[in-house]
Amino acid sequence: MFNGKHITLGIESSCDESAIAVLADGREILSNVISSQIEVHKVFGGVVPEIASRHHLHNLPFVMDEALSAAGVTLGDVDEIGVTAGPGLAGCLLMGTAYAKAVAAASGRPLIGVHHIQAHILANLIEYPGLEPPFLALVVSGGHTHIIEVRGWNEFRVLGATRDDAVGEAYDKVARVLGLGYPGGPKIDRLAKEGDPFAIEFKRVYLEKDSLDFSLSGTKTAVINYLHKETQAGRPVNSADVAASFQEAVMEVVIDKTMTALAQTGYSTLAVAGGVASNSFLREKLASRCEKAGAKLCIPSPILCTDNGAMVASAAYRKAGLGLYSDLHLDVFPGLSIESGLAKLEAGA
Ligand code: KG4
Ligand code: ZN
Repeated sequence: MFNGKHITLGIESSCDESAIAVLADGREILSNVISSQIEVHKVFGGVVPEIASRHHLHNLPFVMDEALSAAGVTLGDVDEIGVTAGPGLAGCLLMGTAYAKAVAAASGRPLIGVHHIQAHILANLIEYPGLEPPFLALVVSGGHTHIIEVRGWNEFRVLGATRDDAVGEAYDKVARVLGLGYPGGPKIDRLAKEGDPFAIEFKRVYLEKDSLDFSLSGTKTAVINYLHKETQAGRPVNSADVAASFQEAVMEVVIDKTMTALAQTGYSTLAVAGGVASNSFLREKLASRCEKAGAKLCIPSPILCTDNGAMVASAAYRKAGLGLYSDLHLDVFPGLSIESGLAKLEAGA
């Protein structure tokens, strides 16, 4: 406790961000420090797991010092320590959990393992205090594309998921073939604003009727084939038109399926989460579609969409409220299921 407030520390290291945040009473951000490794991985065109792990090992103590001092608290003020234990890159998860365990053991504060997607979804609570389960969540990131029914803060049901590429992954791959560099999502977002979204008709895959699953690799491959064909024919390529048409094709499917899920389940609240939730086209389109459908839309500020410690602290705070603690035997789970894997994080599991 600090100044009468409940203090939660959140540690995130599942991919290429070493991030730690301090949250008061589960909502008020006292600090949210993110050390991004984008510059390190850029030269390789994507995240190199071994290098990312080594950087977490080096960065986490510095990020912790900054997070505590910016919040004006000490470890003695912290009520619980939340850490992402899966899914993610094994070596990266190991660095964050090993560090969190050391801090928990040294400070005597309780440890709470958190699911990465659960944390992305619960980031919404920081800016939408009235949000209460049950509701529908759309999770769009570099590794995940899921439509999830949020039944409780620690109870989820996956209604639809990608069968191949995640949205962010497709954006990053198309950006690479367009020569835009890594990470490609924000670059395509920006370039698409200058292009015509209807210039090129790229393939949209809806799968079986009423299916809430996604298949996005066909659209990505259609872009790659188009670029090959145009280059071989010696025709100039308008990259902005390609970016805008690709974005239109992918997001049309993502948004249509999300609206179908709302209609199928009857929920009137949609929470969006994950790095791709920063996408300006998705934010605008979802806002107008939800308004038309009479649904309430929650999308966190971009800083809470990207991987960050505040989302982990938000989830840990809720898990503490439910009495769901981990212990120092907490393992990491690179492929942890949000539906059936959450009990693996609990003490004695
Ligand atoms: O959630 P996140 O930070 O990490 C994962 O858990 O994967 O998401 C990263 C992904 C990357 O693929 C990145 O290109 C994408 O989110 N992304 C975007 C935008 N900002 C980040 N994709 C499209 N538009 C954006 N504005
Ligand atoms: Zn993420």
